[in-house]
Amino acid sequence: MKTRIIVAAACVVLVLAGNSRPGGLFPQNQAAPSPQPAGRALADGLAMTPPLGWYPWNAFGEEPQNEKLIREIAEAIVSSGLKDAGYSLVGPDEGICFSRGADGRLTTNLERYPSGLRGLGDDIHRKGLKYALYTDAGTRTCSTAMPGTKGHEFEDMRAFADWRADYLKIDWCNTEGQDIIKTYAILDEAQRAAGRPMIHSLCSWGEGYPWRWAASIGHLWRTTSDICAPGQADWAMAIRVAWANEKLSAFAGPGRWNDPDMMIAGMPGLTETQNRSFFSLWCLMAAPLIAGNDLRSMSRATIETLTNPEAIGIDQDPLGVQGKIVWADGNLSLWAGKPLFDGSQAVLIFNQGKHRAKKRVAWTEIVIDEAAPCYVRNLWTRETSGPLTGGVTVSVAPDDVALLRISAKNEFPLPPVIVADSYLVSLRADNSAPKTLSGTITVTDKGSAELPLWRIEKGLPAWLSVTVARNGKSQVFTNAVSTAGLKKGSYHVVVRADNTEPVSGKPMSALYYDVDLEVAQDVDSRTLRHE
Ligand code: GLA
Repeated sequence: MKTRIIVAAACVVLVLAGNSRPGGLFPQNQAAPSPQPAGRALADGLAMTPPLGWYPWNAFGEEPQNEKLIREIAEAIVSSGLKDAGYSLVGPDEGICFSRGADGRLTTNLERYPSGLRGLGDDIHRKGLKYALYTDAGTRTCSTAMPGTKGHEFEDMRAFADWRADYLKIDWCNTEGQDIIKTYAILDEAQRAAGRPMIHSLCSWGEGYPWRWAASIGHLWRTTSDICAPGQADWAMAIRVAWANEKLSAFAGPGRWNDPDMMIAGMPGLTETQNRSFFSLWCLMAAPLIAGNDLRSMSRATIETLTNPEAIGIDQDPLGVQGKIVWADGNLSLWAGKPLFDGSQAVLIFNQGKHRAKKRVAWTEIVIDEAAPCYVRNLWTRETSGPLTGGVTVSVAPDDVALLRISAKNEFPLPPVIVADSYLVSLRADNSAPKTLSGTITVTDKGSAELPLWRIEKGLPAWLSVTVARNGKSQVFTNAVSTAGLKKGSYHVVVRADNTEPVSGKPMSALYYDVDLEVAQDVDSRTLRHE
């Protein structure tokens, strides 16, 4: 077993390569982890940390899914503070969003989505949010209400690109006789051919063991069956899902995530303690944080749980390690094995019993040198104790967790959380006089370290230039268009920017936004006038 020293300061955190779980206690349900193939994220830079957002299925099922609901939820993401905490994805799941026309192409169901799926997407982008859509790899979606992509993979991915989806969940219903790896690989190829970078979320509920092969064609994959029936949050089921997902920790990493399903935190049927514990487990497992509750009617406590920056910092840690169970006895379990980017470690003690319970976490149990003085931060009470040597004893109420950050220092940085004022720049040239038009996108990092300037990917069309300038914790992207010589028509480009997290040196998720230019008349190629 190889040992790697992560921090050799006061609190020495060691990470053991390999499985440190007690033999036999947690049966491996699958074969030993295979080396990861080169992930799709290496090329598109998407989802280098787990995606955050909201999907309707857990709270609503198929009904009432319509434009009004999605717009109200998008508003709530902004007004509740979830956007500032990092949540960005929103859009319809199953429900009657589109149908297939006689020409084989998908068209929006305008009764339910009067602005069209593209119009809704544009408005979501203007709010500084990202657009999530849903489809299926088979002949129909699970409810059979919508057509699946089978046999239409390329034209359907083109439709999702035209609607400007940033994230596509692809379900696995009605796929009798289909080879799962080939099917999702074709869908990936079709997404690439459509030319719009999208996070590809595979949803086969663990069927076909996607963790073994899906990293080369997608960014996340469901590991279990549905966490609940719509509207019926089930605490016991959620814990079973967590315990199943935990076993797959070796397969997760930047750009390739195990997805234990949308969250049930905040749904009726769970106590605030259970919400907090659920959220902590998802953060410790570096799970996608896709909220599933009705964001329009959350309690203050639920908002505080879903937006806790220190817990989100564990989930969004740039190293992208999924924590796992390292000890369990009866109703108590210790989850660790999650080194963080500044050399700290995330640790969780979970009490599934009916009585308050105490657990002594010895440093040696979480692979820290016994004599090392460490600070222990409780991420829910926000209290720090220490420096402590040898270990720490915690007392945990029923259904509750202690979510801890164990560090050499008394303070620690929070990783980047990127929030944009908009992901769409729309410009218009009305007449034939050449001009320079410009529009800005402001991108703010809610983390602690100052980010380097975002680097714009080369290859922009001749009519567009983008410059990036610092403004406090924000960076402003100025998109300047010179219209001289442009022909009448609609122009569009997706701008990509990249950055590096400065503490770990790890690549951050690439940032993408759309620039639209409408040219009403052919423009002269004479001298420019500035506007
Ligand atoms: C499957 C998925 C769910 C949801 C429904 C929609 O069950 O696992 O998350 O998308 O389909 O029908």
